[in-house]
Amino acid sequence: MKPRDQVKAGLPGRREALRAALGAWMGILLGRGLAQSGSSGVVAGDLLVYASGDKADQPILADQVGLNQAINAYPMDPTTQSVKKDPKTLIVLVRLEPKALDAGTARYAAGGFVAYSAICTHQGCPISQLGQVGSRKGKLVCTCHGAVFDPAAGAKVLGGQAKRPLALLPLKLQGPNLVAAGGFIGKVGAD
Ligand code: FES
Repeated sequence: MKPRDQVKAGLPGRREALRAALGAWMGILLGRGLAQSGSSGVVAGDLLVYASGDKADQPILADQVGLNQAINAYPMDPTTQSVKKDPKTLIVLVRLEPKALDAGTARYAAGGFVAYSAICTHQGCPISQLGQVGSRKGKLVCTCHGAVFDPAAGAKVLGGQAKRPLALLPLKLQGPNLVAAGGFIGKVGAD
């Protein structure tokens, strides 16, 4: 076989090797991506921890949260103790009078605590506070464009440009800890 023929004969082999290497690389990337997305979701049993501040990554204890207070939280896997820090897992936790909750919301609350995705459904800004005055008092307010959500009523939209409620996170109390009782209900984030 002439050298040129040998080269020609070798080409398919090299192409296959390249394809195989590329396939393996894509598989690694895809696997990594799936693993990341799989580990970033909130699941039942995750502990809620402070998202920022002096107590960042520490479990939020129920008696540390005042009435009509909102706190940003992340979920933490209680087994690995890894905090799932992802924009899509940012939570806004609110403590309200239990009797202030409507029946549909109370089903997913724990002792007056309710939790929602903190990602605004308008354009995705993080929500971290309750309004203090007027009709916004006690409501979740997005400071980007002024969307207002009712934490006592499934985070339904009360004002602004958002079209959908925030995704709801079922909660339960486990001793002093606030724990997810399931994953988010509803779509997380902006449309
Ligand atoms: S992103 Fe929240 S109101 Fe626009």
